[in-house]
Amino acid sequence: MSGAGTLLEVSGISVTFDGFRAISNLSFNIGHAELRAIIGPNGAGKTTFMDIVTGKTKPDEGKVLWGEMSRNLIGMNEAKIARAGIGRKFQRPTVFEDQTVFENLLMAVKNDRNPLKVLFFRPKFKDFAKVEELAAEIGLADQLSRKSGELSHGQKQWLEIGMLLAQDPKLLLVDEPAAGMTLGEREHTTDILKEAAKTRAVVVVEHDMDFVRRLDCKVTVLHEGSVLAEGSLDHVTKNQDVIDVYLGR
Ligand SMILES: Nc1ncnc2c1ncn2[C@@H]1O[C@H](COP(=O)(O)OP(=O)(O)O)[C@@H](O)[C@H]1O
Ligand SMILES: [Mg+2]
Repeated sequence: MSGAGTLLEVSGISVTFDGFRAISNLSFNIGHAELRAIIGPNGAGKTTFMDIVTGKTKPDEGKVLWGEMSRNLIGMNEAKIARAGIGRKFQRPTVFEDQTVFENLLMAVKNDRNPLKVLFFRPKFKDFAKVEELAAEIGLADQLSRKSGELSHGQKQWLEIGMLLAQDPKLLLVDEPAAGMTLGEREHTTDILKEAAKTRAVVVVEHDMDFVRRLDCKVTVLHEGSVLAEGSLDHVTKNQDVIDVYLGR
């Protein structure tokens, strides 16, 4: 049963790849406007979880229930799930390098969930205002006229987060955002994600424990495709099962 505060309910999900059980009876919930970190050793099933929620991978068993109507996302295609309000950021930024930051954001704003609108799109004042607002949110307000290809790795990641926020998802899934970033960039990324999670749910998969600590949110620890522990970072890092897994015992 999903409670009133539940946006996403993962229930009894299992996936097997060539006989290997990557996700095993996985169940947990994400609330509205919640920031959640998912941690766990390599191969724990973190990316596969995101693949299932976004419709890229179909599980053998289980349900993913979404929104007020507890609609089951399993069997829906990726485009339909994205239109239902789930945005995903991949590890490699996919911004258009030859276009400016402004052009990339404007394109994302016009790429409305209604495909007919894209055909007849003429940018209006409110679209430019939205671009300005997004640029401020990701800390690139003074970079709008720069070619995206000239941005640092971190700035490209923020731009991509901004392009996802332009779609106004109810849930944003972010896989290892801190990889390859400088310390300063990581800190800024934490701020962006925390701010974004005030108005939507944000689920962050991350290896960097300092990054997760700065997120200061509930943590779900995955291991062998199921939940090993859940709670504050301090709580889960005191859990003996978690300690054993991280020390490889
Ligand atoms: N498409 C696939 N085909 C076969 N095995 C896969 C596939 N995707 C993931 N796996 C396996 O499932 C397990 C979980 O992978 P993954 O979700 O990528 O882990 P994590 O993101 O936590 O590191 C790993 O053992 C991985 O090799
Ligand atoms: Mg992964």
